[in-house]
Amino acid sequence: MKILGVETSADDTGLAIINAEGIFGPQFTFSILSNVVSSQLLHALYGGIFPAMAKREHAKNLPLLFRKIENNGPADAIAVTAGPGLEPCLWTGITFAQELAQKWSVPIVGVNHMEGHIIMSMVSVANMDDKEKLAKNNHQKTDRAHSNVLKYSVASATLKQFEFPALALLISGGHTELVLVKEFGHYEIIGKTRDDAVGEAFDKVARMLGFPYPGGPVIAKFAEEARTRGLTREPALPRPMLHENNFDFSFAGLKTAVLRQVENRTLSEDDKRAVAREFEEATAEVLVAKTMRAAEEHGVQTVLLGGGVSANAHIRRCFAETSAKMGMRFLVCPTEHSTDNGLMIALAGYFRALKREFTNPSELIARGNLKLGERA
Ligand code: KG4
Ligand code: ZN
Repeated sequence: MKILGVETSADDTGLAIINAEGIFGPQFTFSILSNVVSSQLLHALYGGIFPAMAKREHAKNLPLLFRKIENNGPADAIAVTAGPGLEPCLWTGITFAQELAQKWSVPIVGVNHMEGHIIMSMVSVANMDDKEKLAKNNHQKTDRAHSNVLKYSVASATLKQFEFPALALLISGGHTELVLVKEFGHYEIIGKTRDDAVGEAFDKVARMLGFPYPGGPVIAKFAEEARTRGLTREPALPRPMLHENNFDFSFAGLKTAVLRQVENRTLSEDDKRAVAREFEEATAEVLVAKTMRAAEEHGVQTVLLGGGVSANAHIRRCFAETSAKMGMRFLVCPTEHSTDNGLMIALAGYFRALKREFTNPSELIARGNLKLGERA
């Protein structure tokens, strides 16, 4: 089945076409015919995503991106993110998918964005061909200054080896959830943030330090530099809810603790490095400790990390080391697939399409709060 994935839930516009075959299991294989993402760099100027502006950018970007992939011909089905996310943004993707489905006379399948992040870490795209390596070193700039397009192809890919149930920690700009994945499509949320999402905390702390949106990558860079040079920050930041006997998280207090340390003060670049490091390490410590405790309690052998914040090198390293120590399998995707893209939507959509979970195109609606496991 050739399937087109459409992603517009936040500020990244993504389109991907995959050719997939086989049910969920060792027989499953796919190849990536095209995968293009356009990140809306304009939000850097405003310190966050403005839904109305993001929506307009998606509407402009979709036809531009489509032109780059339409040489692959029509797909057999279209997968589009139906939620969760910003509804004005979701609608641009849905409308685009509806029009294309009509033009191609193919069915539509609505996809849960978070399920996309989950499946992305379950597949192995290690068989990159030279074309991808080439393109990776050569992020293509689009004709428009505020977009940046990643384009490449992959020879062929499969599922990684692991067993259900798996425990997925999903960390992105809008979500922080600990999900027991009983099998693909069957989820139980066993913990979540009570206030800010992890990505949101990274973005807000970055803003306090004077960095542009999205803040995660800059915090990560400054924190790495602090570690390399042995810069530390006193007093230590809190590790919220670390010892509480539940699997929930809270990041608002941590964020406020950073604010107390930096407000009304002129910080040197080294001060910023040290604060970034302490914030990143406090976050990683809580995420790892609570996830691993949940894994043990639920008798899980596989831990999976997904969502934009899983691009963070320190958080990955902590999870990889702790899982190895505990004899657990750790699944995460290449960093360039951690943030939003159309590939993850095409993949999740493929397995939904296999179950014939198609939606009547005119009935598909954007659902900002769509829950994992709910039909889109
Ligand atoms: O999944 P995603 O692309 O979009 C949402 O669904 O929200 O996640 C975006 C989030 C942003 O908050 C961004 O700052 C964060 O992921 N992020 C990072 C890193 N790269 C992106 N956070 C920490 N370290 C990174 N390297
Ligand atoms: Zn996301």
